[in-house]
Parts: sequence; C-alpha cells; structure tokens
Amino acid sequence: MRLIVAQDYNAMSRRAAQMVAKLVRAKPEAAIMVPTGDTPRGFYAELAAIHRRDEFDVSRLRVFQLDEYLGVGARDPNSFQTWITRAFLDPLGIAASRLVRLPGDADDAAAACRAYDERMRSAGGCDIAVLGLGWNGHLGFNEPPADPASPTRVVALSAETVASNGRYWGAGARVPNQALTCGMANILAARHKLVLVSGERKREILRRVVTGPVSPETPATYLKASDQVTVLADAAAWPWPVPEQDKVAADRV
Ligand code: GLP
Repeated sequence: MRLIVAQDYNAMSRRAAQMVAKLVRAKPEAAIMVPTGDTPRGFYAELAAIHRRDEFDVSRLRVFQLDEYLGVGARDPNSFQTWITRAFLDPLGIAASRLVRLPGDADDAAAACRAYDERMRSAGGCDIAVLGLGWNGHLGFNEPPADPASPTRVVALSAETVASNGRYWGAGARVPNQALTCGMANILAARHKLVLVSGERKREILRRVVTGPVSPETPATYLKASDQVTVLADAAAWPWPVPEQDKVAADRV
C-alpha cells in the first residue's frame, strides 16, 4: 500500500484526477469503478476540468457503479446513479450506456448483482477502483465484518452507516437500510485501487487502516494485503509523517 499525503483537499483532488486521466489516456477502454460521497466531489470536478482543457477519449470507458441503495430507482434524486451521472458522466460527456449499474429498483436484486459480476468478468476485471473510506472502514457498502471473497450482493447497513449517510437525504427522510454493493472480491481484484481520504473526521479510521492489522472488522485493511493500492489522503486526514514502508514514488499510478 502506498500512502500519498497531499497538502489539502484541492491538492488531493487534483492529484487523483491526474492519476485517473493518465490511466484513461493510456487505456481509453479502461473499466473504472467510481464512488459517491463527499470526498470524491473535488476529484470529479478536477477530472472534468482536465477533460475540458485537454480532451481525452472517454467514449470507450466502462464505468462500474460501486454501490446503490436498495429500493431506490435510477430517477430518484437520492440514488447513487443520479449522483454519478451529475458528478461524473455528464461533465465528461460519458454516455449513460457506458455505466454498468447496480439497479436499486431491480425486481430481483440478487440476480442483478450476479449480472453485475458477470459484466465485470466479461470486461476482463476492473482497471481502477476509485474508492472512498467509510466511517468504519467500509469500502462501497461492504460493512464489517467483511469477507474478502464476497461477491456483489445485497447487504444490510449498520445503523451508524444509515445515520452517517442521512446527511445526503435531508431532514426527516427515511434512509434505506439495505444496499447493493460491489463485493470485496471485485474491489480487491481491481488492477489499481485508489482510495481518497479527506478531513479530520477520517483521521482515526485512516490510522487504523494504515497502522492496524488486516481484519474483517475494518474492511479497508484488506487493501494492505493487495497489490497496487494508493491511498491518497489530505493532511487533515493524515497529519503525521508517512510511515517508511508506505512511502512511495509519487507518480506510480
Ligand atoms: C458511503 C458510501 C461509500 C463512501 C463512504 C464515504 O457509505 N457507500 O462508498 O466511500 O460513504 O463517504 P464520504 O466520502 O462522504 O465520507
């Protein structure tokens, strides 16, 4: 695992966008997994800015949705699909047909999850999984305890995750307590994993991921046992010196 600490949120976002733009330029047909949440907003804005300045081909990208609420349809303003469309697909002019959805409104959600893993298989796996870090170390919606071999599936969300995601839904809204998530197996199998971590509120969980043992209780720690992982944090999330074993050449991805 490589830890890169950017001086602030904007620098982290810029750096992440440069990494992903570089990868897409090198492989325009790349399969990319994309997250939602507050953390990646700046990354998407920077990526769109790079694309405006120096257009690179995104017409062949395959975009895999990382997670979705169960029972929430594509047109729901709170769906992750709506979020990804607004933050990523539309600003870069990526056709909706390039998105491999996790359909929260599927009649048979389990079958939809199996179809998603099949699409991943036929894409030849994921070139880069861009990830956020959940409050308890979850990746996507892989809550602890996590099985590193878990497939894409329907999961129950912890009360704390429901509460923490409530900020996106507005006061009084009923936040779903189940979700579809890309499984740990496909996340860990991605050829690059780029984890964005920002702000003081992520400090303790990031420290646990970087310095703690690999444990199902902190799903992101499985990244430590996996190849090609870059954790890109801002200084608010990682105010400490970078541990010697995590120091990296900055431009590896
Ligand atoms: C949610 C999402 C995750 C996301 C995490 C962190 O639970 N399911 O995919 O990475 O929250 O979100 P944020 O970046 O807003 O802290």
